[in-house]
Amino acid sequence: MRKLQNILVTGGAGFIGSNFIRNLLGEKDFEGRVINLDKLTYAGNLENLKDVEKNHGGKRYFFVRADICDSDAVNRVFREHDIDTVVHFAAESHVDRSIHGPAEFIKTNFMGTFILLEAARSCWQGKEGAHFHHISTDEVYGSLGETGYFFENTPYDPRSPYSASKASSDHLVNAYCHTYNLSVTISNCSNNYGPYQFPEKLIPLMISNIREEKNLPVYGDGRNIRDWLHVDDHNSAVWAILTKGKSGETYNIGGENEWENIKLVHVLCEKMAGFLGKEKEYYKKLISYVKDRAGHDRRYAINCDKIKKELGWKQSYDFNSGLDMTIKWYLENAVWIANVKSGEYQKWMEKNYGTRA
Ligand code: NAD
Ligand code: DAU
Repeated sequence: MRKLQNILVTGGAGFIGSNFIRNLLGEKDFEGRVINLDKLTYAGNLENLKDVEKNHGGKRYFFVRADICDSDAVNRVFREHDIDTVVHFAAESHVDRSIHGPAEFIKTNFMGTFILLEAARSCWQGKEGAHFHHISTDEVYGSLGETGYFFENTPYDPRSPYSASKASSDHLVNAYCHTYNLSVTISNCSNNYGPYQFPEKLIPLMISNIREEKNLPVYGDGRNIRDWLHVDDHNSAVWAILTKGKSGETYNIGGENEWENIKLVHVLCEKMAGFLGKEKEYYKKLISYVKDRAGHDRRYAINCDKIKKELGWKQSYDFNSGLDMTIKWYLENAVWIANVKSGEYQKWMEKNYGTRA
């Protein structure tokens, strides 16, 4: 089992990263320190980590506001905190934004990963046990038809600027392993849901719009399929890889839980009606089919047998109760939603979609 001491988490103020840090600091097999390096874009929010700062700030948890593309800042953090492990979440993560403005995606997702790898290469010369874990996505594999699954050896076929930027960063990570013998692992995960997800992504967007009785924009015919996984299950898989994963390996992580978008939106409408005391069908009238996403991938489905067999990981949430918990969280945290939506996101939505959402 790999021993981890000073972990650099990039993008720790975002959705998955903030949940990861919270879980990590509660992990019984981890006694070390976490350094969260985040630029705080529209998607990064220190409110996500208020409890962590309160309980561990200045002792086991440290926040550094910096851009992963800033080589000086990244190198300084590596040296000042004697980093031995990197968990690289930081990215521009929203496909729609990548269609409207790909430049930021290439900068952060590709160049930023390059800067981090270079820092690891120069700071870790001769350092025993140092390890770089790169968080990637199932979208690098492209789009499936009605059958079949993505395996770790499925050829890459990214089809959006977002997935292409992630795919190119994956290749770079592998190249550093082969060329410089850097110890690396990569995970390719399916769609996450859970608390603290920015309300531009399907599930929190729908919950937020249902609550406010706004339109529920469903792209195209609504029959695209995604495989949903609770964020804690993603993060327990990352922990398994960090501690037991083999350098040079890729691990697929998935929920084995495929849903057509429109069916999922129906379930959200029904569950919300239950929570808010409305008649079962009440919110479905808000559904509006809108213009499809350009190049919209039809279906994602992950085969995650490898991580189950080799590292003993499995999902722990069932979707029904996971969704209930998630809806409750957003209902109880309406102020959080209002706060994160009050800035850049609102401006971006208005510029690109008018008042649709
Ligand atoms: P997110 O958008 O919620 O958070 C991204 C975080 O990265 C934010 O805190 C942001 O401030 C930070 N960041 C962005 N650019 C930065 C930069 N240049 N320098 C430093 N920090 C920067 O994203 P998320 O949904 O939490 O996704 C995290 C990672 O997981 C990403 O790499 C994404 O590709 C991957 N992933 C996400 C999902 C999903 O369903 N959300 C699924 C599979 C993989
Ligand atoms: O598969 C993993 C990926 O999942 C991650 O790599 C990405 O970072 C993450 O954003 C997510 O990408 P998707 O594009 O699948 O997620 P999103 O929530 O944007 O959309 C899910 C599906 O719902 C997709 O088919 C598009 C559709 N959709 C989305 C929105 C925001 C709608 O129909 N209406 C919407 O308003």
